[in-house]
Amino acid sequence: MESGGAGDDCLAFEVNGRRFELPEVDPSTTLLDFLRSRTPFKSVKLGCGEGGCGACVVTVSKYDSTLKKVETFTVSSCLTLVCSINGCSITTSEGLGNAKNGFHPIHQRFAGFHASQCGFCTPGMCMSLFSALTNAEKSQRAEPPNGFSKITASEAEKAIAGNLCRCTGYRPIADACKSFAADVDLEDLGINSFWRKGDKNEKKVSSLPLYSRKDHACSYMAGECRSTRLLNSKKNSWYSPASVEELHNLFHSDTVGKSGSVKLVVGNTANGYYKETEVYDRYIDLRYIPELSVVKRNKSGIELGAALSISKVVVYLRENSESGELVFSKIADHMEKVAAGFVRNSASLGGNLIMAQRKYFPSDIVTLLLVVGASVSIMSGHKHEKITMEEFLSRPPLDSKTVLFTVYIPFLDPKRIDGSLQTSSRLLFETYRAAPRPLGNALPYLNAAFLADISTDKNGSLVNNIQLAFGAYGTKHATRARKVEEYLTGKVLSLEVLDEATKLLKGAVVSEEGTSHAAYRSSLAVGFLFEFLNSFSSVGSAISCGLSNKKQNDSLLEGADTGNQPLLSSAKQVVESSSEYHPVGEPMPKFGAAIQASGEAVFVDDIPSPTDCLYGALICSTEPLARVKGISIKNHPRLAQAPDVITAKDIPKEGENVGCLTLFGGEPLFADDIAKCCGDIIALVVADTQKNANLAAKNAVVDYDTEGLDPPILTVEEAVERSSFYDVPPFLYPQTVGDFAKGMAEADHKILSAEIRLGSQYYFYMETQTALAVPDEDNCMVVYTSSQCPEFAHRVIAQCLGVPDHNVRVHTRRVGGGFGGKAIKAMPISTACALAAYKLQRPVRIYLDRKTDMIIAGGRHPMKITYSVGFKSDGKITALHLDVLVNAGMGTDISPIMPNNMIGVFKKYDWGALSFDFKICRTNHSSKSAMRAPGEVQASYIAEAIIENVASWLAVDVDSIRNRNFHSYESLKLFYGGSSGEPDEFTLPSIWDKVTSMSNFDQRILMVEQFNRSNLWLKRGISRIPIVHEVLVRSAPGKVSILWDGSIVVEVGGIEIGQGLWTKVKQVVAYALGQIQCDGTEDLFDKVRVVQMDTLSLVQGGFTAGSTTSESSCAAVQLCCSVLVERLTPLKETLQADTGSVDWKTLILQANYAAVNLAANSLFVPDPTAMKYLNYGAAVSEVEIDILTGGTKILRTDIVYDCGQSMNPAVDLGQIEGAFVQGLGFFMQEEYSTDSDGTMVADGTWTYKIPTIDTIPKQFNVQVLNSGHHKQRVLSSKASGEPPLLLAASVHCATRAAIGEARKQLKSWGAVEGTESTFQLDVPATMPAVKQLCGLDSVATYLHSRLSPSQN
Ligand SMILES: Cc1cc2nc3c(=O)[nH]c(=O)nc-3n(C[C@H](O)[C@H](O)[C@H](O)COP(=O)(O)OP(=O)(O)OC[C@H]3O[C@@H](n4cnc5c(N)ncnc54)[C@H](O)[C@@H]3O)c2cc1C
Ligand code: FES
Ligand code: FES
Repeated sequence: MESGGAGDDCLAFEVNGRRFELPEVDPSTTLLDFLRSRTPFKSVKLGCGEGGCGACVVTVSKYDSTLKKVETFTVSSCLTLVCSINGCSITTSEGLGNAKNGFHPIHQRFAGFHASQCGFCTPGMCMSLFSALTNAEKSQRAEPPNGFSKITASEAEKAIAGNLCRCTGYRPIADACKSFAADVDLEDLGINSFWRKGDKNEKKVSSLPLYSRKDHACSYMAGECRSTRLLNSKKNSWYSPASVEELHNLFHSDTVGKSGSVKLVVGNTANGYYKETEVYDRYIDLRYIPELSVVKRNKSGIELGAALSISKVVVYLRENSESGELVFSKIADHMEKVAAGFVRNSASLGGNLIMAQRKYFPSDIVTLLLVVGASVSIMSGHKHEKITMEEFLSRPPLDSKTVLFTVYIPFLDPKRIDGSLQTSSRLLFETYRAAPRPLGNALPYLNAAFLADISTDKNGSLVNNIQLAFGAYGTKHATRARKVEEYLTGKVLSLEVLDEATKLLKGAVVSEEGTSHAAYRSSLAVGFLFEFLNSFSSVGSAISCGLSNKKQNDSLLEGADTGNQPLLSSAKQVVESSSEYHPVGEPMPKFGAAIQASGEAVFVDDIPSPTDCLYGALICSTEPLARVKGISIKNHPRLAQAPDVITAKDIPKEGENVGCLTLFGGEPLFADDIAKCCGDIIALVVADTQKNANLAAKNAVVDYDTEGLDPPILTVEEAVERSSFYDVPPFLYPQTVGDFAKGMAEADHKILSAEIRLGSQYYFYMETQTALAVPDEDNCMVVYTSSQCPEFAHRVIAQCLGVPDHNVRVHTRRVGGGFGGKAIKAMPISTACALAAYKLQRPVRIYLDRKTDMIIAGGRHPMKITYSVGFKSDGKITALHLDVLVNAGMGTDISPIMPNNMIGVFKKYDWGALSFDFKICRTNHSSKSAMRAPGEVQASYIAEAIIENVASWLAVDVDSIRNRNFHSYESLKLFYGGSSGEPDEFTLPSIWDKVTSMSNFDQRILMVEQFNRSNLWLKRGISRIPIVHEVLVRSAPGKVSILWDGSIVVEVGGIEIGQGLWTKVKQVVAYALGQIQCDGTEDLFDKVRVVQMDTLSLVQGGFTAGSTTSESSCAAVQLCCSVLVERLTPLKETLQADTGSVDWKTLILQANYAAVNLAANSLFVPDPTAMKYLNYGAAVSEVEIDILTGGTKILRTDIVYDCGQSMNPAVDLGQIEGAFVQGLGFFMQEEYSTDSDGTMVADGTWTYKIPTIDTIPKQFNVQVLNSGHHKQRVLSSKASGEPPLLLAASVHCATRAAIGEARKQLKSWGAVEGTESTFQLDVPATMPAVKQLCGLDSVATYLHSRLSPSQN
């Protein structure tokens, strides 16, 4: 409803300048729900619903009546309750600019810097940047040059630190953000569509879309920002008391005090963690009570209102640190690592503390406050109390009506620490945090804060007093290590004292049973204390135990991530365009990138819901193998009507229980009788809203029975024992090479039965699985789905419904990230939707929540590899045998392709002789599916792991073993046969040389050695790896139609999943139709529109998979264009003869009059002799590890990758970088693990950590090699979608090298265990995994070695 003048009991706010007034609203409605369901603004995307991805970010402009200014800040709209934005103005990305009114320079620059691929993350990114720019304008900094903002490059990058992108790898996004910064060096910005390499700076500045700082006058509802005292809805109410008295009155009123449940709310961000579904009768918003927003400073400390946002607390602490309280600035630094900016802006200080007190949330803030002696004031009934943090924590969980008012932080100086006063003493304060992401947006494994009063004299450093707090390590609350404090107090620091203190601490920081990585967390505590005490050496020279100072060394490092350094310190791209097939070869911006940035690009869930639409959610098994006896839905107050439950029984009798189809057959849609894994889909529950459908699914009670069933198979070993395998068709089983026995006989050394285990990886496409099914006349069904293979979805739906194929029509316009997960795994979603719609004869849509998506996805195949390898003393491998047990889960899916895929990549080295045995194990896990480079990434890694093992065995440099086993063209031909191409196409040797010189590899090896010699607690490793990746070209259809005005509409079988397929197709159409050679064809590119896949319009679409769909689709449209050119040529020649010249428009007009057929379709079928070909690349990565924490920092990566003659070097570069970073996730961060029953443990952004901008290489250089003409390839181009992902193994190898150095050192300190030079580093090499290999007791070992040097 829109109108003017809202009453006190009406919620009023603006969205993109449009006013909304809501007299009634369910108070649990989030801003995202509201925007997406009740406004036309769809740029706010739902990526996680838990504050962890940033896809839903909007900016809020709000008038602060105390400060008398408008504040603009971001919030995650998925957590913000709509009632709490009363009187605010909301801006979404389409509010900044749009296709109709013109795009904002942020949108234009995202497009021009190639910073949007699938586009699902892009509107959120734009809003994070927009808010940062707006706030920078308010700073007192000097005026920036015209066209720039006051923002710094470092701030611009950090603005998107909490936003996830799964496609781009962040580098181009960082460039788009930095392009606004006054201090940016334009030379540092990467490839873009605004300028060409070598252009002068003035030209560059003038070609950037103009940024006018005045644009930032963000509207707000002047004078309307007020509390809505009472917002009544029929059932629930929202109160915003404006004084303590009002709050009291409320608590004691009949409405709140006596009846019903009450929820106090500030930012509501806790719901991101707890995902409450309780319905409260009353919500009380605490933000309008002045006492809860105070900032009071007196002589002894500062009092902060509990309702202040963490962001504001950071600002106030910084302001106060300027007047000498340096401790505050450290607390502020630490607080800036809590969540992401868009969470901190609404998350309150008090909310955090209450979560920790009441629900044992692993808070950072509590640990900080505990150590500085903070206290809190609380109100319970009429009773006000001021209690210490320790007391606050030790009380039983506070009830829902106890209010936290303020937090008091005392100023600290030596005089005030427990009365101790030493004149020469100094206060030292430090905080620590070990988390998978340095900049936050990840809960820590452990946090700590230490405060010490130290005095130094000639005897050394005397600890007068010390306070040590630790948190988040798996206890209910943060704790003080009292025993250690007592021990240290009064001691002069010495090696013995350090040794005893760390020993005591190890016994004190002990996680509760069941906590993951318990020993690691405890070792972190030891490491942090050691580091802290060690730093006292800077207090005076008295502590002379010879410890190297890690912090000091740190500051000498390039890219040390403190201060104002950009996160991505540099990035260079070399792309070699080619003009042979212009405009093919041009680095054109991705088609549709600007509408993706503004959020107008329509994804499936953005299609408005048809009238009467229902919503579905999946009920999945929680048992690995059980009979399903019955399903019921528990009552819930929100579920007024009993939802429909659709099961296999609802499949029409003409239909079949089928949920997906592959080359290897079909799989059931619903577990018919027996559920075969945790996550097996049992039913679809359908309700009136998505929220209610999700709630109903959560409240489903499934009655299981396991009687008479064999135990489930949960490991590959059990599968072997019980011979539970899938068949691999012979044509897909690869050929062995040479004679293994003979090769082994020639070997000087043998490693027998070595083992490697690899885990899974989740796709983490930003858009979860989704579909909308709309029943049509005459038993037809129209389905919109986010799918990489709509043709197959189409067939499955028809088969399931039991209708002819022509009764079904499937549309896919774009996919918000696929990575293989939207191929097979998208089919059951669209089929379930269609089935429900068919049964209920109403439209049904599904948008899976992230948790369900993660439970059913399956992901990459875990596997166990056992290998035996023989080699000569000079490192030449003579024979290799692999036994591979692939865990395929409970359905076939595409698993039988694994041997072929793996061996296709594995043959990258000349193994002499190669034999293998694959078993594709059927287990009771969710069925594993294709994920970007399926099997290939594992195989490439295994090859490297074997090479590394051989090198360790021979105690030689691993790089020499790689070189020794490199293919010659002859051996390549022996291993790859026909796919090896012509000799001049074997570009790997030159790539190897290029990457060596580009990365300065030889010199950097020496530098790494030097670094390792002079650093005890940081070690570096550098590694260079090659890849050879075989791909298969498949057939693909295309259709090109020319309309009356000369514009062109194109359909292709390939789906735009962010990989730029449509852009390449447009370029090829422009090139191929341009062959008509008439006037006006130079701008054909702009005349082409590629439209969505419609399975009734274009048949035989096939799969968008395997890296080659872009080229096949391009080949298909090229065929169409040739037909059209052929048809048009006679007419063109006649017209030319008549008039001397002819332009495109006239030609097409005349062709219409002359009834020339202006639509052509084709099916491109690759030449059978050239269907397979090889892709080559190489990478060098350098990694630094922190021995105390196991943390890794990727200092630099250099990549050279052969794209043939790239059709679009910008698009290919984006694929290379994005794939590499996704690979980085696999090798370093992402743990897609299950418990022993197969229940997914990682089920959201809290537990699954994909790379963020702070975890990519600090220097990231890529060369897209143009290797010239390839006559068998489509316009000489080669694939780029998957192979570069394999290059990320270089980071793992470099990490392993660094660990090797740490282990050598550990050995030199006298350790016996865990120092062997042959060791396996887990994939992913997470912090705990790295630390484990560096020695959980490395500190103790070091100290012992110093204490008893003679023993070493
Ligand atoms: C994605 C994400 C990542 C995070 N990462 C971290 C992290 O790394 N480290 C960390 O320490 N924290 C982290 N947090 C937690 C975050 O700090 C809290 O969610 C936030 O501070 C809670 O504040 P809120 O205002 O949103 O509370 P709400 O969600 O509004 O309330 C939380 C609870 O406290 C109660 N409550 C709120 N204020 C008061 C009050 N004044 N008196 C009494 N009861 C009250 C509410 O009733 C509710 O039960 C993260 C949160 C998110 C969403
Ligand atoms: S959807 Fe809101 S942060 Fe992910
Ligand atoms: S472009 Fe960022 S998630 Fe796809």
